[in-house]
Amino acid sequence: MKKKLVKHVTASFKEQFNAAPEYIFLSPGRINIIGEHVDYNDGFVLPAAINKYVCFAVSKNSDGKVNLFAKDLNESYSFDMDNNLKPADQMWANFFLGVAHEIKQRGLASKGVNIAFSSTIPMGAGLSSSAAVECGFAYALNSIYNLGLSKEDIALIGQKSEHTFVGVNCGIMDQFASVFGKKSKVIKLDCNTLEYEYHKADFKEYMLVLLDSKVKHTHLTSGYNDRRNEVEKGIAILKQHYPGVKTFRDLNEDKVHTVKDQLGDVIYRRCLFVVREIQRVLDAVAALEKQDFAGLGQLMYATHNGLSKNYEVSCEEIDFLVDAVRADETVLGARMMGGGFGGCSINLVKKDAADALIARVAKEYKEKFNIKLEAYKVKVAKGTSLYTS
Ligand code: GLA
Repeated sequence: MKKKLVKHVTASFKEQFNAAPEYIFLSPGRINIIGEHVDYNDGFVLPAAINKYVCFAVSKNSDGKVNLFAKDLNESYSFDMDNNLKPADQMWANFFLGVAHEIKQRGLASKGVNIAFSSTIPMGAGLSSSAAVECGFAYALNSIYNLGLSKEDIALIGQKSEHTFVGVNCGIMDQFASVFGKKSKVIKLDCNTLEYEYHKADFKEYMLVLLDSKVKHTHLTSGYNDRRNEVEKGIAILKQHYPGVKTFRDLNEDKVHTVKDQLGDVIYRRCLFVVREIQRVLDAVAALEKQDFAGLGQLMYATHNGLSKNYEVSCEEIDFLVDAVRADETVLGARMMGGGFGGCSINLVKKDAADALIARVAKEYKEKFNIKLEAYKVKVAKGTSLYTS
């Protein structure tokens, strides 16, 4: 699959730019085992990069321009690195413009490049195709022009460009997972300090299956930024009440409960979800280490309930997909994954039962919503890198 993608993008580059590309970069999408909507709340997350990629065929050029060809859309876009960069009408171009802008803001001198790119990460499915584009582009410029950026810098540049050029006030999880991914490892990331450690992504006789609702979200119009505003209000009220508290990490359920009246019902439920979810990630890492997959699965279900009922970022279709597997003994856990309002559920499923499960749920889903379910049996893969055949 990877080879096919590389071949396809190489051919597209040749067609566009009349020469073979000098470099190929691959930048992966991500899954998240647990720890949802807590990256921007100083929590922990447990993501991993997956074997679905944005592939970039790249060559230096001498005219100072970034010439882009989006093969999947059959669209081109060019901009001059020396110009004052502003968001464009072509949404996808903003992933590149934002990164270029951030690199310039850091006083780094990047020059021109020709790029053709294509992706096997489904868009709007909660697998962070946008972070993969941002990080892949930053990584490519850094490698080609020796900008001296660390992996952390690349992730932060990707995140910042999402804030400023795309308008989504995202956390750091997606970009971090895309850049720091490692084969067969999940990343436990402390989103407060950006300290991280790898844990084995070996689920023995179980595997991860994503069920794509095909309900496309865009966090620009979803409630993503609203949630951020709500928890910001929440933490401000909690800090007033508990002067020692700096972040959600310093709180627990009881403390949030005590302030319920001041928070009001909605913000109370948002804050309650956050403190519970932060704790669940720690419990999940312990379960993973003990190979207690049943325990891990229960935590995933608990996360889903919280996301659906208290944080309110799920949707009817995703709730249906999670409910459809709850009573199935071949599934240990399932939950909505990513920003929400559509996208995929992530399921921990007995390997030899995965095909039957997918067939059953696809049938039920089609009957209920008349939507053709897509399923991905993902593998945990390495992060953004230069491809060498
Ligand atoms: C999106 C954002 C991430 C994170 C998740 C929810 O994917 O880009 O930063 O907040 O939603 O966990």
